[in-house]
Amino acid sequence: MKVLVVGSGGREHALCWAIAHSPLCTALFCAPGNAGIAAVATCLPVAADDVEGIVAAAHGYAIDFAVIGPEAPLVAGVVDRLEEAGIATFGPRQEAAAIEGSKAFMKELCARFDIPSAAFARFDEPEAAKSYIHRKGAPIVVKADGLAAGKGVMVCRTENEAHAAVDHILIEGAFGAAGSEVVIEEFLEGEEASFFALVHHGQVLPLASAQDHKPAFDGDEGPNTGGMGAYSPAPVVTPAIADQVMSTIIRPAVAAMAEVGRPYTGLLYAGLMITADGPKLLEFNARFGDPECQPLLVRLKSDLLEALIACRDGRLDQISLHWHDDAALTVVMATRGYPGYYPRGSVIRGVDRAEAVPGVAVFHAGTTRKDGHLVADGGRVLGVTARGPTVAEAQATAYRAVDLIDWPEGFCRRDIGWRAIRR
Ligand code: AMP
Ligand code: GLY
Repeated sequence: MKVLVVGSGGREHALCWAIAHSPLCTALFCAPGNAGIAAVATCLPVAADDVEGIVAAAHGYAIDFAVIGPEAPLVAGVVDRLEEAGIATFGPRQEAAAIEGSKAFMKELCARFDIPSAAFARFDEPEAAKSYIHRKGAPIVVKADGLAAGKGVMVCRTENEAHAAVDHILIEGAFGAAGSEVVIEEFLEGEEASFFALVHHGQVLPLASAQDHKPAFDGDEGPNTGGMGAYSPAPVVTPAIADQVMSTIIRPAVAAMAEVGRPYTGLLYAGLMITADGPKLLEFNARFGDPECQPLLVRLKSDLLEALIACRDGRLDQISLHWHDDAALTVVMATRGYPGYYPRGSVIRGVDRAEAVPGVAVFHAGTTRKDGHLVADGGRVLGVTARGPTVAEAQATAYRAVDLIDWPEGFCRRDIGWRAIRR
């Protein structure tokens, strides 16, 4: 089979790494990929959100199966376009990707089908939003409705902060059309975790849990990022909590999507708050998490490609997945400045030394090659991933590998996995 992976981050490197191991895969392409992905796949110069470019490339290279990594092309309808063109594709269609693409849609779905989630209201008019905030009080959470590259959520400690967030989204238009509406939510307290499942209409195959670290700096300080590290499984998601997540959140949501005429196929990511009243949904994503995909896939023993094809074809009942008992943990190395402005082009040395540490894989998130050197080409740049019998051992191995990488312009958190280790 000729396989095309769409995307250029650490998630797509992990997907390519796993798919390249599949006996079903005879040729692997990635659009656009990065310097690390180029070691396992042929990179094609097509942007991930260039839907027509992706369809043309899939035709040109006679692709048999496509796997979509990021949310933007899903929400733009790339699965619909590839399937219409006769190319079997892993991922939800546009109407189903709205579960991530519109927070208002997702919240209405939860309300209508009794899926536990924060209380909310929607506004397109700032004064009405502010009087709701005044009635509810702080802390309170203000979100842009649409896709905002992880920046559209503001957890506000005071009413003034919440008013400023409303102005930022509705008046200043900080997120363009993605912010033509705001969702205002009750602040939920607890420990965050995520849970992943493969879904084809009514068929659901649970994968595993993970925990991401969104704030930029140690001790969960600093601005939110796309994720500075992750580990899997997350001990806060006990077997009993996992059962509750499946029965009160994932299965009802899958049934609800069918009921509203948007049957869901692909990876369903539930972002959760484990509260004193049990797990509540913060968000759904229509794709693997990044960086969560990296520790998740190094734990998978079974053939990922076979599972993704079975998901696309509606044969999930024929798949049983095998996992390493180990935990896995990813430390993200980012360019200094991220998530704000950061320069590109600094030279990174020693990745080969890090990869030589037993149990370590280094996934590239934003790299390219220039004059024979590996150079940084993004905010999040590397995902140094290690397996170990416990989260603590995986963490120790990951940082041993991180310390072999010579990149003065980069930084990472030194405390990835702290909640699991503290337990
Ligand atoms: P989201 O993209 O919706 O998951 O939001 C990004 C981050 O904001 C989450 O990972 C949480 O840390 C935080 N967050 C979102 N919604 C809430 C909520 N209702 N209560 C508390 N924290 C929230
Ligand atoms: N790491 C968070 C996400 O992928 O949405």
